[in-house]
Amino acid sequence: MKLYVARSAEEWNRLTAQIVREVIEAKPDAVLGLATGNTPIGMYKELVRMYKAGEIDFSRVRTFNLDEYLGIDPGHPASFISFMKQHLFDHVNIDPDRMHIPKANPDDPEAEAAAYRELLRTYGPCDLQVLGIGTNGHIGFNEPGTSFDSVTSVVELHESTRKANAPAFGGDPANVPARAITVGISEIMTAKKILLLATGAGKADIMKAALEGEVTEQVPASVLQRHDDVVVVCDEAAASRLELPRSER
Ligand code: GLP
Repeated sequence: MKLYVARSAEEWNRLTAQIVREVIEAKPDAVLGLATGNTPIGMYKELVRMYKAGEIDFSRVRTFNLDEYLGIDPGHPASFISFMKQHLFDHVNIDPDRMHIPKANPDDPEAEAAAYRELLRTYGPCDLQVLGIGTNGHIGFNEPGTSFDSVTSVVELHESTRKANAPAFGGDPANVPARAITVGISEIMTAKKILLLATGAGKADIMKAALEGEVTEQVPASVLQRHDDVVVVCDEAAASRLELPRSER
């Protein structure tokens, strides 16, 4: 596991986007696993800048988003498809036929999860999986207690997650969908490389538990200790409790 600690938001954005760019440069038809949340916004901004500057080409890239809420209109501003359009898809040359994200309002959520699992099997594994981390240690929407063997499925969100994500739904946790479709932990672990992102003091404790604590299904992100190519990019606040040696680049 490699840990980079950025000294500024600009440096964090550059570093994270650069890691994505290197994967695409090495393999122009790379399969990228993408994450939503506040954390990766600056990375996407820098990727859009790189694209506009002619420094990166997404035309052959295929993307799989990690998760999507269930039971909201895909056009809802807080849906993950809306997020991806706003921060990346509408601004770069990714082929819409190669962008994959579970449907937010499928007629049959179980069938949608099964279809997404099959798509991942067909085109995966991801060359790079970008991951954020929930304050309770979730990755994707794999909440504490999820089996490390889990595959793409319909899941219930924990109250703490609905509370954490409430700002995007007008502040009321009751407005946050109760269910989602998420890529499973076993599928996340098949990615060739994993880029774990964390910023802010609110992530310091969970980063410590996930990266340096016991590997346990109670802390889903702790499974990453078993992967042999994880790159972690934090700011000082999120890295403040970590004892792992820091790398420079
Ligand atoms: C969300 C997403 C995760 C994300 C996490 C952290 O619920 N499902 O994929 O990594 O929460 O979000 P944030 O970056 O806003 O802290």
